[in-house]
Amino acid sequence: MSAPKKLFIKTYGCQMNVYDSERMAETLGAQGYVATDRADDADMILLNTCHIREKAAEKVYSELGRLKPLKAANPDLKIGVAGCVAQAEGAEIMRRQPAVDLVVGPQSYHRLGQMEAEVRAGRSALDTDFPAEDKFDHLAARPKAARAPAAFLTVQEGCDKFCAFCVVPYTRGAEVSRPVNRILDEARDLVERGVREITLLGQNVNAYHGEGPAGRDYSLAALIWALAEIDGLERIRFTTSHPNDMTDDLLEAHANCAKLMPYLHLPVQSGSDYILKRMNRSHTAESYLRVIDRIRAARPDIVLSGDFIVGFPEETEAHFQATLDLIEEVKYGYAYSFKYSTRPGTPAAERGQIDPAAADDRLQRIQALITRHQQQIQTDMVGCEVRVLVEKPGRLPGQMVGKSEYLHAVHIDGGQAKVGDIVPVRIVQAKANSLAGRPI
Ligand code: 5AD
Ligand code: SF4
Repeated sequence: MSAPKKLFIKTYGCQMNVYDSERMAETLGAQGYVATDRADDADMILLNTCHIREKAAEKVYSELGRLKPLKAANPDLKIGVAGCVAQAEGAEIMRRQPAVDLVVGPQSYHRLGQMEAEVRAGRSALDTDFPAEDKFDHLAARPKAARAPAAFLTVQEGCDKFCAFCVVPYTRGAEVSRPVNRILDEARDLVERGVREITLLGQNVNAYHGEGPAGRDYSLAALIWALAEIDGLERIRFTTSHPNDMTDDLLEAHANCAKLMPYLHLPVQSGSDYILKRMNRSHTAESYLRVIDRIRAARPDIVLSGDFIVGFPEETEAHFQATLDLIEEVKYGYAYSFKYSTRPGTPAAERGQIDPAAADDRLQRIQALITRHQQQIQTDMVGCEVRVLVEKPGRLPGQMVGKSEYLHAVHIDGGQAKVGDIVPVRIVQAKANSLAGRPI
């Protein structure tokens, strides 16, 4: 029997890419590939790329440049580009870097097996269609291997919102929700393999409306309640949400579904109504803050996180100040801030850019404020009791690490906790990026 072929996948960008990479590894596993963590050892290298900001695409091209010499050393090596850069750039990737054999967009992963056969036969393969069929129907079933206790599960893909800065509606296409039964089957399978926490993924996950049993339309809240019935599944999370889709039933689930964790990522992008309008966000700062009030009324201890863009075209110091004011009012437990990056093909790309030095300055100021709140919220956790899902051993002997219900990383010193246990822990110290706790 010939030795198995080795597959190296490098994943950029969001959690959905992490999920897609796992599914691609399983699909190619059915073609006889086993995973390797070394590019120089691989028969197939796949870069699963992100196109959300400019630098991400440039990073892919430089990585491809670095990989090219490996092909001289191993003429059988095949190099593929998947993900959103593949979708956006298509054949241009092969023109710019001829070492690339395969380009596959995020909606075509079910065709990867065939494409692999093509490139093995010495041809190149390109697929960036948006086929009508569900790619997940055709992806190989997951092998029954044990899994880490926390897993991602994509339930919805694509976006119909068309924020003026964002490439997602173009790279991931229109909003599509997977049917409820498929998601429940996949969740049960994950639980059988040791998973206790599932994060439901979607670019607009709270706009989920999937086909349920008897043709009934399920909202995200209905899906969460159905998942909560699965014995052994202890924790449910979802990301990323849009403020306009925070429906009453979802708030009610936050109030009453014990398995739904008290953490919510709800990007606002800016605190200025003028900029929000120019971003085509279809909400105001005020309407966003009122949504936050409703969420906190439903679940007072919830930890919120958000995304912000600074330096959007036309952003003045006063607009930026409105963003700082909003952050001051909400106090995020986590927040991600980005300097606006021009994405060709999006409406904002046609507009004038602001002074890059001003954008850099604003990024530093927003990050300083966010970090201050983040640290305050971590410090406030000292003395509190949390429940930690243990994910892996820590660096020190006898130490275990995991996540609290609020998604804080917690190091547990002492005790007998094993991977997959959910243990009550008293927080004793807040460090820069994690909390230290003792078992109760
Ligand atoms: N420039 C900067 N940040 C962006 N994001 C999306 N598009 C851009 C862009 N063109 C940010 C948004 C989004 C997050 C995933 O990435 O804040 O919520
Ligand atoms: Fe992009 Fe806006 Fe859709 Fe989020 S809601 S994926 S930022 S277009």
